[in-house]
Amino acid sequence: MTGSAGLEIERDVPLAGLTSLGVGGAAERLVRPVGETRLIEAIALARAQGWPLWVLGGGSNVVVADSGLPGLVIVPAGRRRRAALVDDRHMRVDVEAGHDWDELVEWTVAGQLAGLECLSGIPGRVGAAPIQNIGAYGQELADTCIEVRVIDSATGIAASWDLSRLRFGYRESALKRASIGSFVVTEISLLLRRHGRATVRYGELADRLRVDGYGDPAPLAAARAAVLAIRKTKAMVIDRRDTDSRSAGSFFVNPTVADAVADQVAERLGGGVTRTDGAGTTTDGAAKRADGAGTTGMPRYPRGDGQVKLSAAWLIERCGMTKGYGEGPVGLSGKHALALINRGGAKASDVLAFARHVRDRVASGSDVVLEPEPRWLGFGAEFSF
Ligand code: EPU
Repeated sequence: MTGSAGLEIERDVPLAGLTSLGVGGAAERLVRPVGETRLIEAIALARAQGWPLWVLGGGSNVVVADSGLPGLVIVPAGRRRRAALVDDRHMRVDVEAGHDWDELVEWTVAGQLAGLECLSGIPGRVGAAPIQNIGAYGQELADTCIEVRVIDSATGIAASWDLSRLRFGYRESALKRASIGSFVVTEISLLLRRHGRATVRYGELADRLRVDGYGDPAPLAAARAAVLAIRKTKAMVIDRRDTDSRSAGSFFVNPTVADAVADQVAERLGGGVTRTDGAGTTTDGAAKRADGAGTTGMPRYPRGDGQVKLSAAWLIERCGMTKGYGEGPVGLSGKHALALINRGGAKASDVLAFARHVRDRVASGSDVVLEPEPRWLGFGAEFSF
């Protein structure tokens, strides 16, 4: 169907197939505008008609309700990419929201532009990247993102947000803290290092590169290949033949707690107590590596301010839910305890019930309350996980 502003508006579009978890109902209306002008038109139309507004990228970090989404779902479809030389050592790259994320990473690596290589294999589209400040293997978007172009749905006005306005944190940004649909990302801007080498901060990545015959600094292509290989072993690369990858990636964020709380958790769950010194490293060396890997005790990532980030996957396993746990249509991935998977025929209500079950078991086993990472779409204004 063609809408009033010349936009192609589709009706009753099933959304399960547009998400990586594969659950949820239909969009009442859906539109795929290309470019900022068309996006502004789509937002204005929704406002004029009083339709609730939703934005969907690659659908890899959302749970859509079984009742579907009323109003209008916008799927930004612009894929333009522009590169401009800043100086000898830096390139600015502007990319539209509808561009596939991993294709962008692949292109930067091929062009010897450093800064995104460890973010290889993350599913989804560019527009979603700043919302939760995507991160993996020692890099996060905030390391290279300098600006995000955003439309305010309430006014229909586009503006460029700088870092002070974006307020990136761990899996956080001002865009995520705002309510769903209130802002639409149209484009992101990155500052990448020309002829740079890979960032090797994550222990597991360093190990892999060493086995592959690379040291640090490693070439970008080697780092990308290593990250993709690691992600595959964890089913964190979408592969239609692998049910373990029918997920929304990590389902819970890694919780941050005070040092003393971390000690209690370790004592309770048998992970041994590791105390941090003033420099933020542990006396037994357990958490000196950025990823805590190679430790026998509880992984802990000191944040230097008396706070410690714990591993949600480890907590889940220690609380009795090992990889592959769960009998029903939703369970834990057989390759990573932090991914909830749809084994086939699951509903959003199954995902919600299982996620709450995992949270409750971890809470009773450790006193740590896990927070979900994906966004819940269409669960109602009163919904809280
Ligand atoms: N672990 C377990 N069981 C598991 C998996 C891991 O006990 O099944 C423990 C191990 O001790 C391991 C530690 O957890 O050393 C950390 O595991 P991993 O390196 O896989 O990282 P993660 O903390 O579980 C985070 C991100 C991932 C990102 C990886 C790599 C969050 C919520 N998740 O996972 O991001 O790919 O680090 O950097 O921060 C995502 O956000 O969707 C995502 C996949």
